[in-house]
Amino acid sequence: MKQRIFSGIQPSGVIHIGNYLGAIRNWINLLDKYECIFAVVDYHAITVTYKPTELQDRILEAAKTLIAAGLEPEKCTLFVQSQIPEHTELTWIFNAITPVSDLERMTQYKDKKYQNMDNINSGLLTYPLLMASDILLYKAQVVPVGDDQVQHLELVREIARRFNNRFGVTFPEPQPLLSKAQRIRGLDGNAKMSKSQNNYIALVEEEDELWNKLRVAVTDPARKRRNDPGNPCICNIFTLHSYFSSDEEIKWVEKGCKTADIGCIDCKKTLFKNVNNHMKPLREKKKELDKNQNYVRNVLENGRKRCSRQARETMEEVREKIGVFY
Ligand code: TYM
Repeated sequence: MKQRIFSGIQPSGVIHIGNYLGAIRNWINLLDKYECIFAVVDYHAITVTYKPTELQDRILEAAKTLIAAGLEPEKCTLFVQSQIPEHTELTWIFNAITPVSDLERMTQYKDKKYQNMDNINSGLLTYPLLMASDILLYKAQVVPVGDDQVQHLELVREIARRFNNRFGVTFPEPQPLLSKAQRIRGLDGNAKMSKSQNNYIALVEEEDELWNKLRVAVTDPARKRRNDPGNPCICNIFTLHSYFSSDEEIKWVEKGCKTADIGCIDCKKTLFKNVNNHMKPLREKKKELDKNQNYVRNVLENGRKRCSRQARETMEEVREKIGVFY
C-alpha cells in the first residue's frame, strides 16, 4: 500500500518559482511513489482582503498552472477545498480542542497580522486549524511543503495527538517532507518570494517580462561597480542558478563573479536563458489549458467526487467519537 500525501496551495493569483522550487517540483517527483492528493485551498485565501469577482478565475488559474507544471491528473487527485464542506466542519471541532496560545505563537500569524493591519480577522489566527483539517480529513501520512510551513505542521501533529488522546486513535501524525530548496527569496534579494510582496517571478512568466524582472533584481549589495569582485554566497541570483543552471555554468558564475571577470548582467543572462528554457514547455501547456477550461473543470470535479467519499467517512467516525448525534 502506498502512503498517502496531502498538500495544498492558495489561489493567490499567481504561482511563483518560490512555490515551484519549495513545493510543486517535489510534488511532481512524488507522484509515482505515493497516493497523492492536492488541493487549491480557496478558503485559506479569503483570510486576506480580496475581490470576490476575481476568486473563481484565480482558482482555475492555480489548477491550470499546477497541471501545466506536471501534476498529471491521471496520477493524482486535484480538487478545490471549498467544494468539500467537511473541511470547515472538522476545523470547528479542532477549534474546540486547540488552546488559543498555540495559535498565537505561529510566526506566520504574527507576520500576517502586521501585513494586514486593517483586516486582522479570526481566520488569520485559526488558519492552521483549517490546514489540520485538510490533511487529517484524508488521514495523510506525509505532507510535502516548503520550510515556511513546518511550524504549522508541528501544530497539526499536536492536534492529531490531542484528538487521539481524548477521543481514541483516529488520525496519523503527518510528517513534513521538505524539498532541497529552502525558503526562496524574492527579487529584492531579502524577503521570502511571495505574491503579496510583489517580489516574484511567476512560474509561467512571459519571456520579456522574465528578463525585465531579472534585469533589475537585487544581487550582491556590496558589488557597486562592474570591476568590483562579488560574493556569490550572499547573492540571490547565484542561489537561483543552483536550481536552474548546469554545474559547469554554476562554476563559471562563481569564479567569474569572485574575480570580476563577469558582471551581474552576464550572470543574469545565463540565468534568464536557463529559467526561460525550463519554463517554456510549462507556458505552452498552460496556454493549451487556457483554451480548454472544461477539461480543467472536469479534473476538479473528479477530484471532488473522490475526496468527498473519504471526507464523509472520516467525519462519520469523528462525529461518533466526539459524541454528537447526527
Ligand atoms: P502557499 O500557498 O503559501 O504556498 C504553497 C507552497 O509553496 C511553498 N512556498 C515556498 N517555498 C519556498 N520559498 C518560498 N518563497 C515559498 N513560498 C511558498 C509553501 O511552503 C507551500 O508548500 N498554508 C499553505 C497551504 C495549505 C497547505 C494545507 C499545505 C493549506 N492547507 C495542507 C499543506 C497541507 C500555504 O499557505 O501555502
